[in-house]
Amino acid sequence: MALPPQENTVDQPRILIVDDEIPLARLISRWLEVEGYDCWTAHDAPSGLELLSAEHFDLLISNVRMPGLSGLSILEQARKKNPDIAVIMAAAVDDREMAIRSLQLGAYAYIVKPMDQNELFINVINALKRRRLEMDNSRYQEHLEELVREQTREIRRSQEEILVRLTAAEEYRHDETGAHIRRIGLYAEALAHHLGLFREQTEMLRAAAPMHDVGKIGIPDAVLLKPGKLTSEEFKTIQQHTVIGGRILGGTDIPLLGLAQNIALTHHEKWDGSGYPNGLAATEIPEPGRIVAVADVYDALIHDRVYKRAMPEEKALDILCEGSGSHFDPRILDAFFSILPAIRDIRSKIAG
Ligand SMILES: [Fe+2]
Ligand SMILES: [Fe+2]
Repeated sequence: MALPPQENTVDQPRILIVDDEIPLARLISRWLEVEGYDCWTAHDAPSGLELLSAEHFDLLISNVRMPGLSGLSILEQARKKNPDIAVIMAAAVDDREMAIRSLQLGAYAYIVKPMDQNELFINVINALKRRRLEMDNSRYQEHLEELVREQTREIRRSQEEILVRLTAAEEYRHDETGAHIRRIGLYAEALAHHLGLFREQTEMLRAAAPMHDVGKIGIPDAVLLKPGKLTSEEFKTIQQHTVIGGRILGGTDIPLLGLAQNIALTHHEKWDGSGYPNGLAATEIPEPGRIVAVADVYDALIHDRVYKRAMPEEKALDILCEGSGSHFDPRILDAFFSILPAIRDIRSKIAG
């Protein structure tokens, strides 16, 4: 009795039969062709592999033992060439160890010759059905993963948008320009990339670093925009921008805002512990804060501010060097000098 062919399987599946017993290969091929399958035969392993390289097959039925290359090698290579291919191994003897090895290598079934026509059909239908289910499942997984990636991108976009709006508010209020703010994000991203941080982290840094001085919104104009030197009282007031920034950005569980808060709070800490607001030292200062410290000072020195004129880059670089191990993390400063051409490139692209 012939079973109904191809039920729940793919349309016109293509099957390769590799067997050095030529009459048997032909017989299997005839049986399956009558059921509507597209059958190809090869009578040794090398020509089987050649066909597998040249054509797409849904199912491989291979003899386990053949002269030269074994059926197990074909199985391995076939799955390497096409991980979606279903494989049925056919053996002249019932060898338990060989059967287990075949299944371990990805075969869907192991049948012993002489095979019964029904047994062959059942195994072929099951193998193709399982292959279809596995392919559907992996496509569904890929679809889900893409969906999650898209949602993550969307969440990130909206978080970045919040920061961009906050940055715009900040620009109205104090001495730092929008160009400075953007440059800091890009410098920080480039530095973090050079330091080996993952792409996701470097992108977050690019979005969060521009917020480092958002707390200046809370500093009175008379102090913030005062040209010239500040009194020590006024300097204390200015220092509060770190704490105010931390308050503005804190209190949420949005990772990007958490990072921005962290940077706002720590970008004036110094490697030797003499910074503010908490006098943290060395690696007590979170790495994003240490990265932004270098980027911020460099950019501030080489651009005009209310209270000072821009200085030549050469002099700014000398000041940075002098700050290695006192103001700045030496490792991050080294990274900064290593990517100086990229930093200059950012600077020339975002002038102002
Ligand atoms: Fe600051
Ligand atoms: Fe700044």
